[in-house]
Amino acid sequence: MKKDLLSVSDLSPEEAENLIEQALTMKRQGTPCCLVGRTLALLFEKPSLRTKVSFDLAMQQLGGYAIYLSPEEVGLGKREPVADVARVLSRYVDAIAARTFSHQSLAELARYSTVPVINALSDLEHPCQALSDLLTIYEKKGRLRGLVLAFIGDGNNVANSLLLGTSLAGMDFRMASPVGYEIRKEVLGRARELAARGGGQIQLFGEPQEAARGADIIYTDVWTSMGQELEATKRRLAFSLYQVDYEILSLAKSDALFMHPLPAHHGEEICDGILESPQSVVFDQAENRLHLQKALLARMLLPSGS
Ligand code: NVA
Repeated sequence: MKKDLLSVSDLSPEEAENLIEQALTMKRQGTPCCLVGRTLALLFEKPSLRTKVSFDLAMQQLGGYAIYLSPEEVGLGKREPVADVARVLSRYVDAIAARTFSHQSLAELARYSTVPVINALSDLEHPCQALSDLLTIYEKKGRLRGLVLAFIGDGNNVANSLLLGTSLAGMDFRMASPVGYEIRKEVLGRARELAARGGGQIQLFGEPQEAARGADIIYTDVWTSMGQELEATKRRLAFSLYQVDYEILSLAKSDALFMHPLPAHHGEEICDGILESPQSVVFDQAENRLHLQKALLARMLLPSGS
């Protein structure tokens, strides 16, 4: 049976751990040419830099190739029903990585597709980002279990996937967001179940300072995600006390990492210069998208996952 990756929680803790180990091995020892002749459709409803380039290169380096379909080309659910797009693409390609506005479209795509579907970002989750981030943390800290990640900002797709990923990995997750922008209840519920099994703790705070104190990782993301542009002014106001600056970073452990999935809105969720601080690993995160996704594609497209 085909296996999709729509949510981080589609993976078991063991699968996530193996994926991270395999990505690290590929990064250190080189990439096997194991997907010769295999194809990946990159079906995008929103703009992309890292996801598009890293998936395209991942396929090339594994010996296969990717076909990029821009938002204008397909008109997912508008020019053509999602179910039809899924069934047509399944006749051509070996897997689909899709970036959609609504998670429902992605779920529908997966339901009608006979090849694996990877969530390349939806309004609900960004699993490839979170898994790559766990790889970055593991690489920098040598472990995941027991580490404390403080997410300061919006309860958005990146936060949801990180919450699930850290819970799966036995890490502690702290979240500080303004009222009305908290993490969704259903995601929190799922994460609490994973955390209960994995041994991690989930804590929600109002003040960013409380979340940051003593953390191993300070993480933030944009206040206004793609598709929310009309809310930008309202959000800037609501999040004005949630900027990650050097003062917030100084409350964390002295060797804490600063993380951001990019693109960043400088002067909003981050102060100027913090991307360049010695604690920032944001460009390692961007690079690790490539390594993690190579391991993911190899696992999804090869029966043995080798
Ligand atoms: N939350 C952001 C993440 C971009 C990688 C967005 O959805 O626009």
